[in-house]
Amino acid sequence: MPSLISHYHHALTGSCRVPGDKSISHRSLMLAALAVGKSHITGLLEGEDVLATADAMRAMGAVIERLSDGEWQVHGVGVGGLMSPDNIIDMGNSGTSTRLLMGLVASHDITVTMTGDASLRGRPMGRVIEPLSLVGADFTAHNATYLPITVTGTSTPLPLDFTPQIASAQVKSAILLAALNTPGVTRVREKIATRDHTERMLTSMGADITTTQEDGCRIVSLVGQPDLKPLHLEVPGDISSAAFLLVAASIIPGSDVIIENVGLNPLRTGIIGALKEMGARIEVINQRELGGEPVCDIHVTSVRLTCVTNLTVEPSTMIDEFPILFCAAAVAEGTSKFTGLEELRVKESDRLAVMAAGLKENGVQVTESKDSIEIVGCGGKIPGGGTVATKLDHRIAMSFAVLGQMAETAITIDDAAPIQTSFPVFIDLLTSLGAGLKLGK
Ligand code: S3P
Repeated sequence: MPSLISHYHHALTGSCRVPGDKSISHRSLMLAALAVGKSHITGLLEGEDVLATADAMRAMGAVIERLSDGEWQVHGVGVGGLMSPDNIIDMGNSGTSTRLLMGLVASHDITVTMTGDASLRGRPMGRVIEPLSLVGADFTAHNATYLPITVTGTSTPLPLDFTPQIASAQVKSAILLAALNTPGVTRVREKIATRDHTERMLTSMGADITTTQEDGCRIVSLVGQPDLKPLHLEVPGDISSAAFLLVAASIIPGSDVIIENVGLNPLRTGIIGALKEMGARIEVINQRELGGEPVCDIHVTSVRLTCVTNLTVEPSTMIDEFPILFCAAAVAEGTSKFTGLEELRVKESDRLAVMAAGLKENGVQVTESKDSIEIVGCGGKIPGGGTVATKLDHRIAMSFAVLGQMAETAITIDDAAPIQTSFPVFIDLLTSLGAGLKLGK
């Protein structure tokens, strides 16, 4: 459990690429495993979360090979072809792997027991257990909603017409993955649209999947039991990883950075809009398409940010980016307020509480409520000097690693290990651009 010390060193300058998108990487391995034939994926994120998905799919019968850096080959077993693993599968820290896999298992006649690390074992699974039970799967869960969970799929799955009560791409995707081996048409009605990588990828693999609008809902309809064509996919860079660079280059005076090849899925780009509402100088250039997803390069230069109180961006389009946005607010001019953020309490950590504690520990004034946070910006450098409890949350570690660049006294992050789940090259990449980061004991 090495700590990480973050202090100002230099403005950030240069061009870089961030690793492949985590959401797309998970889905590419799962869907390629269900294809008929051999899929080829490049730019796959090789973080611990995605490797947990690869191991789980292997345990259920798919042949998955790493050919070279980011280049993977998957021999699919076909929809309906998954097998019961011989042993419990360990999903590590990854909520996405866990919830999506539960969907896959639900409509296969197999039994799988899943567990994970302390963070994952504290995350509610009821949101997927509820719809997948309606499909016909059976669940035995610790205290009815937590890992370890044993899922027994059904050989006679039912197609759902389901309206999730929370905006969650994981819930939607779990239902769509269950629908793959279910006869008939499954419908998911989203009150708030969430990232649509599953839909885009299934379209490219030849599935009959459509999206319509009705009564203010976005309805995704999938016809079950398709023969999925193999995937030939280049995974774009992860905008959720790029977000740390967007904020770092915005707040460290004199910075000028280009991030190449970043995914620009419109249901993921809220952070760009939010930072622009705070006055950021962000330019989206070279827009193009890659593997059915919009992609671009992003040019960001530093500026004095101002506070924001009525963010107009839909939270679901930047749900993972709030921790780093709070860091931007901590150095901005004026007091920012962010509301409607209940979901942050059930991420890898309780991100409202953990961010509030870390900011306070470093001299920033913060007021937290059930679903909101108010942050008094320092109008430049924050005092710093504190130690942040990461709570097994990669985005907490990386957020404070960025904020330490704008602290009078270095910030210590108690545990750098969680960064490996989504952005293994984070420290090297930021250091190469000019940041001051050093691993402790
Ligand atoms: C993800 C969806 C989001 C996000 C997570 C990845 C996905 O979770 O926070 O990091 O890949 O579908 P929710 O569906 O819980 O909002």
